[in-house]
Amino acid sequence: MAERAGTGEVAATSFPRSTGEGGPFTPPFPDRPTARLPLPALLRRLRRNMLEVWHERQFAEPLIATALLGRRILICNSPETVQDAFIRQAEAFERKSPQQRHALEPLVGDGLIISDGLVWKDRRRVVAPVTHASRIADLAPVMTEAVAERAGAWGARDPARPIDMLAEMGALAAEVICRSVFGRALGEAAAGQVVAAFAAYQRKVSAGGLLELVGAPPWLRRVRGWRLRPEVSRIHAVLDGMIEAALSAPAGEPSLIRAMAEATLAGSGLPMSRTAFRNEAATLFLAGHETTASTMAWCWYLLSQDRRSAARLREEARAALGGRPAGFADLPKLPFARAVVEETLRLYPPIPVLAREAQREVRVAGETLPKGGLAMVVPWLLHRHRAYWDRPDAFLPERFLPGAPPRPRHAYVPFSLGPRVCTGAHFALAEAAIVLATLGQRFAPRLAPGAKVFPVARLTLRPGETLPMLLDRAG
Ligand code: HEM
Repeated sequence: MAERAGTGEVAATSFPRSTGEGGPFTPPFPDRPTARLPLPALLRRLRRNMLEVWHERQFAEPLIATALLGRRILICNSPETVQDAFIRQAEAFERKSPQQRHALEPLVGDGLIISDGLVWKDRRRVVAPVTHASRIADLAPVMTEAVAERAGAWGARDPARPIDMLAEMGALAAEVICRSVFGRALGEAAAGQVVAAFAAYQRKVSAGGLLELVGAPPWLRRVRGWRLRPEVSRIHAVLDGMIEAALSAPAGEPSLIRAMAEATLAGSGLPMSRTAFRNEAATLFLAGHETTASTMAWCWYLLSQDRRSAARLREEARAALGGRPAGFADLPKLPFARAVVEETLRLYPPIPVLAREAQREVRVAGETLPKGGLAMVVPWLLHRHRAYWDRPDAFLPERFLPGAPPRPRHAYVPFSLGPRVCTGAHFALAEAAIVLATLGQRFAPRLAPGAKVFPVARLTLRPGETLPMLLDRAG
């Protein structure tokens, strides 16, 4: 382990464990402390990169009972304990952690992702069906169109000049979610405006760090709300304009906004207020943009290090598509692309910690959590748990191919589980497979010489701040 200059603190190394031709590729993860971390070091790591705090033995435990700054925490770390808290006793854990609520509230108000109680129930009824599996066929053309444009742009680039793959996938995911939410007529400039406004917001929010997991003091929240006001007003103005345009677009122009308008009327008979539309549009963008972007960026990194998998993806894509962009009907012919996405979500779950505040005293596997305590599921731990995964730190997409040995249910939860499970899981899986197959048949992105890749998690888990890659043409 290296000594971090100046701080005297032991830092995590960032090297892939093996890149050999023989064994599977083991991508980078932080060194795991073997002794208990003193509180100041723990807090520092939580703020810098919360993946650095997990102890080696925690990758083998079923339940971890702990406390942080006076708040009791139960980490459910086996399929049984996960199911017990997030499904069987879900009604006690429907409330998101204070950290999640405080980070997002200024922007999404009472949007689905952080609301609870009756508001959540009402909104879930409206939002969940619009991105349901049965609607992906209607939504996929936007994905195909956006990735075909990107393939054209990549083809025109000088292959000797590196691109930032994280930014590329960010822009692509943003185009897809913006055109899906507001309609295909949305211009590139408008999508760019939304992306820039959200990025500015997220930069300021991330700066707050994960310390707020246990709840920021009210004065800090007030200061933050005030600091975020310019970004929030900008985003709200942009969203209001787009919602108006989407709702008054000619009939037959599909968009998630329109679908939500129809769904509310069908449910209560009452239209949703403009503020509610805005909150849900912001929710869909926030929930569906960075998560999908970082998944796709990680896929490209992993494929760049595992040439065997990259070749298999390319062969599958060429056989299924023969050079044209992938569409919804091609998805059944792309099982390896899907397996790469699922294995990537196992190794680098974009939301590495799921946290809920107990609404009453709860017992899980013999441990008591008082009202106000936090129950967590940590996909970062569970997805690399030694009891449930063979070679847990290695990149092995084959484990997700049809016919692979089954894994315990609830040992794999990149989209959460229970009543608050991600409503966009099918959307995201379809998008990522379409993108990988379409671009993977023409390009073989290679990590730029000297580029260092290391997983960092603040609000979401990302491959650092940038991911420089060269766009080699596929042979
Ligand atoms: C790879 C991409 C994605 C991942 C890994 C992901 C993961 C998650 C997770 C873990 C949650 C639950 C968070 C928690 O319990 O604290 C969630 C919630 C949610 N996601 Fe996703 N998501 C992805 C893409 C999307 C997309 C594309 C959309 C929309 C089109 C979306 C919409 C939502 C919504 C609306 C919720 C809130 C559900 C509720 O609270 O009832 N997500 N997502």
